[in-house]
Amino acid sequence: MSVAAAVTERIHWIGALDPGMRTFDVILKTPSGTTYNSYCVRGSEGVAIIDTVKLECADQFFARLQQFADYGEIRAIVLNHLEPDHSGCLPELLRRAPQAKLYVSESAQLMLKALVKQDGLAFVPVTTGDSVSLGDRTLRFLHTPYLHWPDTQCTYVPEERVLFSGDVFGCHFCDRRMFNDAVGDFRFAFEYYFHHIMRPFKRHVLDALALIEPLDLAAIAPSHGPILRDRPRDYVARYRELATPRLKRETDNGDRTLIVFYISSYGNTRRMAEAICDGAAEVPGLRLSLYDLEGSPVEPLVDLVEEADAILIGSPTINGDAVKPVWDLLSSFAGIHVKGKVAGAFGSFGWSGEAVRMIEDRLRGLKMRVPVAGVKVKLIPAREEILACRDFGRQVGEFLIGRQVTREIDFSELVSAA
Ligand SMILES: Cc1cc2nc3c(=O)[nH]c(=O)nc-3n(C[C@H](O)[C@H](O)[C@H](O)COP(=O)(O)O)c2cc1C
Repeated sequence: MSVAAAVTERIHWIGALDPGMRTFDVILKTPSGTTYNSYCVRGSEGVAIIDTVKLECADQFFARLQQFADYGEIRAIVLNHLEPDHSGCLPELLRRAPQAKLYVSESAQLMLKALVKQDGLAFVPVTTGDSVSLGDRTLRFLHTPYLHWPDTQCTYVPEERVLFSGDVFGCHFCDRRMFNDAVGDFRFAFEYYFHHIMRPFKRHVLDALALIEPLDLAAIAPSHGPILRDRPRDYVARYRELATPRLKRETDNGDRTLIVFYISSYGNTRRMAEAICDGAAEVPGLRLSLYDLEGSPVEPLVDLVEEADAILIGSPTINGDAVKPVWDLLSSFAGIHVKGKVAGAFGSFGWSGEAVRMIEDRLRGLKMRVPVAGVKVKLIPAREEILACRDFGRQVGEFLIGRQVTREIDFSELVSAA
């Protein structure tokens, strides 16, 4: 079966199929393989190549390119994203088409040299509003950073109503029939890709959609997976749904959300958690939740954290560490956007009590704000320690609603700031 190539009369897919790929970027399972999509756009005054493919697939790429253009006709090369699976064949393409100009986003220039090891690499940085004429066809650029690297952009050809969207609207799914109305059911791959690649950048997705939604769209041509020519707007609408916070939609009354997670063997850290909630409950305008980490799968908790304004995590110290369910939760935060959220830690201990400090360090490492120093209690919390926990919860709550809290500065922070 040959590969479907014509997106329109003037636009052809010249990418590569990689059906055997099973893990991508370390973090993604790719049971259906993937495609590296590259496109050839023909105008009356020259040809543009949109993205290349990974180096290992160079033979496929150059063979397909040669079916649709001569190297001497190539006037523009656009890299919508610099990751090696899209930039891998750039040096060789420039060698074969030395007259071509390279167009990358303004933010890509900071990474270009580190990724494409070629001395004297010339390029033109572009952003929203910039365009390149190919005679009767035009390349219009949209600045859509952080989807999913700082450098990403989209390119639109208005005369064909085709959007080259880079990794946005892409997925890892290899089917040589190539078009969404022709391939097998790839919904799982589409949703999985959003969840694992775009999810930490939901705000940037919404910014990009503001540029994409007004476009007249006959097709979306992403850099992986099927080309979306049948009802492309459905995929745009789905991205908007996936990127829009759910909780805010349901309870948009301005309350700030605070979640207290804990885990506890003898009930000591649990008692602290309950007292912290009692203290926070004194602060108006908070929506409070209390969750035991024991026995809960991590995924639904990560969903909660994604939409929360603040989280507190309680763990006893066991063998000089916080316990595994706490680390499982914290390690999942890399898949969502937590930077700037308010956070803190607490826990009971027997003699050394490392857990609270370790959790706080991790929270700071994730660029969360830790405005109130954590509470540690030796073994069973006494009455005054319960009061200290209440005070901790109240202080975090007040910080959340914008009342000033006197912050205790940690000596190690001063040292690392120096
Ligand atoms: C297996 C085990 C290992 C422990 N290791 C430590 C430790 O390394 N340092 C420490 O301060 N406390 C340690 N503890 C004591 C607990 O932190 C302490 O009992 C704490 O109050 C338990 O709180 P919880 O009831 O919330 O689980 C250990 C307890 C157990 C059962």
